[in-house]
Amino acid sequence: MKKVWQHAFIRWSLGLLVSLTIGFLTGRVFLCLFLFVLIVLCSNLHQLYQFHSWIRRSGKSLPPEASGIWGDVFDAVHRLQKKQRKSKKRMRRALSRIENSTSALKEGVIMADNLGNLEWWNESAGQFLGLMKPVDRGQPITNIVRSPEFFRYFTQKRFSDPLIIKSPKSKGMYLEIQTTLYDKNDHLIFIRDITNLHLLEEMRKDFVANASHELKTPLTVIKGYLETLDMFKDTLPKSMQKGVVNMTEQSDRMEQLIEDLLLLSRLESNDKRETDQWHDVHELIRAIVNSVQVIGKDHTLQIDMQSDSKLYGSYKELYSAFSNLVVNAIKYSPNGGNIIITWKANSKEGVFSVQDEGLGIEARHISRLTERFFRVDKGRGSNTGGTGLGLAIVKHVLLHHDAKLDITSQVGNGSTFSCHFATARIQQPLIHST
Ligand SMILES: Nc1ncnc2c1ncn2[C@@H]1O[C@H](COP(=O)(O)OP(=O)(O)O)[C@@H](O)[C@H]1O
Ligand SMILES: [Mg+2]
Repeated sequence: MKKVWQHAFIRWSLGLLVSLTIGFLTGRVFLCLFLFVLIVLCSNLHQLYQFHSWIRRSGKSLPPEASGIWGDVFDAVHRLQKKQRKSKKRMRRALSRIENSTSALKEGVIMADNLGNLEWWNESAGQFLGLMKPVDRGQPITNIVRSPEFFRYFTQKRFSDPLIIKSPKSKGMYLEIQTTLYDKNDHLIFIRDITNLHLLEEMRKDFVANASHELKTPLTVIKGYLETLDMFKDTLPKSMQKGVVNMTEQSDRMEQLIEDLLLLSRLESNDKRETDQWHDVHELIRAIVNSVQVIGKDHTLQIDMQSDSKLYGSYKELYSAFSNLVVNAIKYSPNGGNIIITWKANSKEGVFSVQDEGLGIEARHISRLTERFFRVDKGRGSNTGGTGLGLAIVKHVLLHHDAKLDITSQVGNGSTFSCHFATARIQQPLIHST
């Protein structure tokens, strides 16, 4: 037992003994005992009163003088308070260091709760989005950044890829937004000013579009002369005849390349897109199959319509994406074989797929197929007259249609390219009851 308790017991025992002795001597044992208990109670009540008043004064002053158990209690509480105050100070210092360092960041940082209500942001974020303290604290972020892309990105929690938006505050500024969920699905949002990068990217796109456009006119002139030369082919020496055929082939390829580059830059520029509409997928597939009959004469083209549902999108874009896949299936199945074009739709998605029995692709190449100018076999590409832009076009078209490309392939056994569309773009046929 601690010393203070031993002393207290000794004091109480002595007190009890003295009051009992006086009680026996005076013949008033109960009165003396009662007086003893009363004195002990009063002294404890007095200490309790002092303790209470000290604690009520938030315990910042020195504890009242006291001896024995109460003195020990006062000291222990005082020590605990001092320790707590110290660790509070340390935490406050650490917090203000974190706050100061994030305030100094060039990147914007925002903390929002699980519903997206703003809790805290640094200076850069405030400047990027025009946030004002304390007015905007507690406001939903979708009220501040009023763009449909951001609304979709935030409410549908599409946080796997960063989002690029125009700054709602500064004209001409482009922002990249990246969101991470933490703790109880609270949002930690990073914002980066990517205006310069964006301008460079725009310059690149403009350059490709302008260069392709400018190349069209001289190519048309060259092709015109080649056609004239072709008409008088028989009058030309043999070596020249071969040259004319070769030049015609190469200028056709160049024309295709320019067409593909122009289509890609139109897809990238996002504006001037034709408005989306509902399209009959069966008709679309039939039109594609008709147009590839000539190059696919050694192949069996099968259409497998598992659904009559319609697809919402741009006819031109869907046509070029789907026909690219069908042409690829023909081009990369040099030994002919079956090509199955399927359209199916269920409650979760709509899938357009093209399955061939051709050369197939090694697994290591699959993730790179949609890169511009990527060809599994460079030689193979030039033999087949491909530009290497087809799948890049497919990827962009699918991006415009909230769809994903899925590729499965086995070398020697063939490949399947599937486009997966979200249900919002699928319209099931109306069933008429009779
Ligand atoms: N169905 C397929 N079977 C085998 N390889 C394919 C198929 N589709 C595409 N590829 C490969 O992917 C590459 C890129 O395709 P694409 O972008 O359409 O360019 P290309 O103009 O060469 O057809 C092709 O060069 C080819 O190597
Ligand atoms: Mg292609």
